[in-house]
Amino acid sequence: MDSGDRNGKGNGRRNGLAVRAEGLEKRYGEKRALDGFDLHVEQGTVHGLLGPNGAGKTTAVRILSTLVRLDGGRAEVAGADVVRESALVRGRIGLTGQYAAVDEILTGRQNLEMFGRLFHLGAKRAALRAQELLEQFHLEDAAEKGAGQYSGGMRRRLDLAASMILAPAVLFLDEPTTGLDPRSRLEVWDTVRGLVADGTTVLLTTQYLEEADRLASRVTVIDRGRAIADDTPDGLKNTVGGSHLDVVVRDHADLPAAVEAVSRVCDGEPLAVDVERRVQGAVTDRVAALTEVARTLRDEGVAVEDIGLRRPSLDDVFLRLTGQTSEPVEKMKEEVAA
Ligand SMILES: Nc1ncnc2c1ncn2[C@@H]1O[C@H](COP(=O)(O)OP(=O)(O)O)[C@@H](O)[C@H]1O
Ligand SMILES: [Mg+2]
Repeated sequence: MDSGDRNGKGNGRRNGLAVRAEGLEKRYGEKRALDGFDLHVEQGTVHGLLGPNGAGKTTAVRILSTLVRLDGGRAEVAGADVVRESALVRGRIGLTGQYAAVDEILTGRQNLEMFGRLFHLGAKRAALRAQELLEQFHLEDAAEKGAGQYSGGMRRRLDLAASMILAPAVLFLDEPTTGLDPRSRLEVWDTVRGLVADGTTVLLTTQYLEEADRLASRVTVIDRGRAIADDTPDGLKNTVGGSHLDVVVRDHADLPAAVEAVSRVCDGEPLAVDVERRVQGAVTDRVAALTEVARTLRDEGVAVEDIGLRRPSLDDVFLRLTGQTSEPVEKMKEEVAA
């Protein structure tokens, strides 16, 4: 294992594929949950599967972990076919949420020992493995407490530990931080980084661009059952622009002036969200752009309710990839010209 790679971002070397999925199809009645979905995950990396609610993330994970049968296409996980060699696949993967039905009454240690016994480790090996995992997931201090008293982040770490009992080659994490407070989220991120440093390949689904950016060396964006982009986090952010300048004007009548001011400093077209009296544009030289727009609007006597820089979100990625904008910028420009 390449121990020089501690941040889970991969080292750019090609190691072979942990997941190879081609043309996956899954229908539920008329609904196409997956519609020709492709995914390639390199061994020893965290790969992000990024998409909004209903995009098909969980369906993909369930197919790849052999819980759901596919209607078309083919997939190999950890070197085995998910349909013809499903038992082999199951022996090589971990999945949060499936085996990790943590018992609230048992302590953290008892939970992990119980899972070890479920996997036929024997009492002594199960106790040893529980201790290792408690250390690895920083749960030693809470080891003898009932899991029902754990915080959200600790609970999620216990879930992760339980899914790692057999040190799987590939671990599927389906939205591991959804619903967690920011601090717990950071804890889970640290844990995931540690897993990859130990050689596990992680497929992580998320609705947060920031999460994919922090953890993944590569990201596949999924929309309506199809992969619409596959890139590094930096590549994706370049698609949408590194930062966004965001201006909200007090009076709706001033929106065209704000569009004009932002368009002078931003890359490509600014985006106007009419109902929010908001204009946003991708900017490269962040501070210069902010300063210039603020000065222009002040000189023009435009009352600004809010102005700031923010990092791109999944919404921004979708906007650029699918071309769906909330309000035509062209219309605003016509108003400025009139
Ligand atoms: N068991 C099911 N029965 C019917 N429709 C389903 C089922 N599972 C998922 N779907 C539908 O398939 C689509 C993709 O769902 P899902 O994979 O859960 O998306 P995500 O995890 O990205 O939110 C959604 O439209 C969802 O309603
Ligand atoms: Mg889901």
